Amino acid sequence: MGGDQAGERDGGPRGGGDPVAADDLPDGVVVADRAGRVTVFNRMAARLSGVPAGAALGRDFRDVLPLHDADGRDWWKSTDPYGGLRIRTRQPERSLFLADGREVLMAARYVRAEPLGDVDRLVVTLRDASHRARGERSRADLVSTVAHELRSPLTSVKGFTATLLAKWDRLTDKQKIFMLETVNADADRVTRLITELLSVSRIESGRLEIRRQLVDLPDLARRLVAGRVAAGEAQDRYRLEVHGPLPDMWLDADKIEQIMANLVENAVRHGAGTVTIVIEPYEGGAAVSVRDEGKGIAPEAVPRVFRRFWRTRRRGGTGLGLFIVKGLIEAHGGAITVGRAPSGGAEFRFTVPAGTPDFA
Ligand SMILES: Nc1ncnc2c1ncn2[C@@H]1O[C@H](COP(=O)(O)OP(=O)(O)O)[C@@H](O)[C@H]1O
Ligand SMILES: [Mg+2]
Repeated sequence: MGGDQAGERDGGPRGGGDPVAADDLPDGVVVADRAGRVTVFNRMAARLSGVPAGAALGRDFRDVLPLHDADGRDWWKSTDPYGGLRIRTRQPERSLFLADGREVLMAARYVRAEPLGDVDRLVVTLRDASHRARGERSRADLVSTVAHELRSPLTSVKGFTATLLAKWDRLTDKQKIFMLETVNADADRVTRLITELLSVSRIESGRLEIRRQLVDLPDLARRLVAGRVAAGEAQDRYRLEVHGPLPDMWLDADKIEQIMANLVENAVRHGAGTVTIVIEPYEGGAAVSVRDEGKGIAPEAVPRVFRRFWRTRRRGGTGLGLFIVKGLIEAHGGAITVGRAPSGGAEFRFTVPAGTPDFA
């Protein structure tokens, strides 16, 4: 709030700048006079409380704006702004609840004409707390999920290294190799998780940089498949369809490769049968679909697949892949959807605009 007396001198000169109308303020503002009658009830206060300003003005603030704390106590009764200690001039911001149970952040000033005098004006500000609460909850969830994700591989690393150290002479080579392979895989898993978390953090803070260059999408898909075949997969597991000539596509080659690799990996790991990649022109840019012939995604899971840590199997993936894929596509100005492939299975389809060279 700009000054102590907001609301009372609406339209009057204030600090030399343009006058601020109470209705323009982003927070709810309620002012009551020395008798507790409401004299200002701005638009946001009306929105938050559900009481129209016309119905609030002139009435007792306690009737217009009932508030209670988390234990259900009537806030005005327990703090008694007009009758309480005369040294009090303010209430620091705290979370309280409206009559309908919605949470608001409320702060108040008790304006006294002279120190220790009567309260001349009560000025209350209200902020919607639902956003904040949601943000904090999801941050807390993220921390606990990450902690859990890191702990399970580390528990296994610790268990196997401790066993190897304590019983080295009594273990067969086969047992030792099994343990070391597990430790090795778990270390990879932790590294992958941390790399993915860094991507997530870049996506969420909007720090993702797109370095555009000319990208040949069909060629990129071909090389991706060739790499998987070289690593031992059957060539006939993959099909590539390219329809029509594509425009020049200015994309971040590494990120597009990461997107396609993730979708193909998912099709192989979570899907089944032939994996078909379809590349076609779309609204001046391109569309890429990755289809498989597995069970597909259950309709009720569709809104969740792109969320952080959402996955159906505990072992293996981190559940961050599709969240990152979506973030990378959106950073290119594109979009991704999931549906059912013509031959059953899942179809992930993304579209990206052609883009322009970075220094054009
Ligand atoms: N092609 C697919 N077929 C069936 N389910 C899939 C497919 N792709 C993704 N999913 C589901 O979506 C979940 C999230 O995918 P993703 O974010 O890549 O995480 P991860 O692969 O690490 O499990 C997977 O765990 C899987 O349940
Ligand atoms: Mg994945």
